[in-house]
Amino acid sequence: MSSGSTKRLQDAINSGETLPYGLGCAFLSGRREKAQSVRLVHAALDAGITYFDTARLYAEGQSEAVLGEALKERRDSVFLASKAGIWPTEISFSDRVQGKALHVLRGKAPFLRGALPEPKVHRPVFGKFAPEDIRVSVETSLRALKTDHLDLLLLHECETQQIRDEAVLDTLRNLKREGKIGDYGSATQPDTTLEIDRIAPPDLSVLQFKNSLQGVTLDSLGATARMKIVHSLLGETFSRFHSFVAARGGGDPLVQESGFDPQDRRSWGAAMIGFAARRTHGGLALFSTTRPETIAATVELSSNLSEEAENAIAHLISQFVQAQA
Ligand SMILES: NC(=O)c1ccc[n+]([C@@H]2O[C@H](COP(=O)([O-])OP(=O)(O)OC[C@H]3O[C@@H](n4cnc5c(N)ncnc54)[C@H](OP(=O)(O)O)[C@@H]3O)[C@@H](O)[C@H]2O)c1
Repeated sequence: MSSGSTKRLQDAINSGETLPYGLGCAFLSGRREKAQSVRLVHAALDAGITYFDTARLYAEGQSEAVLGEALKERRDSVFLASKAGIWPTEISFSDRVQGKALHVLRGKAPFLRGALPEPKVHRPVFGKFAPEDIRVSVETSLRALKTDHLDLLLLHECETQQIRDEAVLDTLRNLKREGKIGDYGSATQPDTTLEIDRIAPPDLSVLQFKNSLQGVTLDSLGATARMKIVHSLLGETFSRFHSFVAARGGGDPLVQESGFDPQDRRSWGAAMIGFAARRTHGGLALFSTTRPETIAATVELSSNLSEEAENAIAHLISQFVQAQA
């Protein structure tokens, strides 16, 4: 384990000084939704969240810019994580105007559709892990976030090949030495994460991954000394899990033990966040929302998960997994 910012963060989480939740900033946007995005960040701060996860990729690079603006008075009291490895596509002004014009024309004059060109598809560029690309990415993130350092840099959707690459590792170590990043880790697929944990040097101090309700990755990573950060807890599998719980109803002993209304999807969502955060043992659970007014309640419920509720949820998850098999 590195003695850098990850260790300080883990200590703060373990001592209860820092909440084990982070705001996922993939939904932040800088255009028409900018004011709402700033409100989201401020609502997270008001709820006690001090960890923010963004990426060069998110919202075509705008997530970092909005986050930087929303946090400009609070930089020193938050932990900023961003990612390198996927570049958002730069959309030129003329392409943007042309795309918008085509969109409007298609809507207003459907009979012209056949005659109109298809709008250009802009795709992000993956696999940008060459040392110079990582450096350019970090410098761009720093400018966008209006800061002189990232607390954490994650290799976005990397493969084991990058973790074995001394040139990549040297770049990360040099960026840390220069004070531009606090620590570094990976943010990639669960299977690749397991392999990375096996082969990476100890200074790669963070593993970020999608947690499945089945818990395969978190359970398999049980013994690692690296910090675990989980995300995508509220997607499609959670929806199926909630339907499973709702169908059992309030008369079910495990549902009763949980203390949650089986129909209240948001409470179960908060429970999933608290449940996953505890299973990271000093790590973090990330979540996203488009609704600032819900963040405080989500944090409150996640943080107050009783041991009884946790046990009941563990049993419900295991029964859900068996039912799916
Ligand atoms: N490779 C990577 O490292 C990687 C990949 C994916 C994600 N991430 C990070 O993880 C963050 C979170 O992941 P995510 O955005 O995929 O998904 P998520 O947090 O699992 O799901 C977001 C969805 O959950 C809903 N939600 C929020 N609070 C809820 C609650 N208490 N109960 C039920 N539903 C709730 C939100 O709807 P409302 O808007 O209606 O609240 C939103 O639609 C991302 O923003 C990103 O920072 C990282």
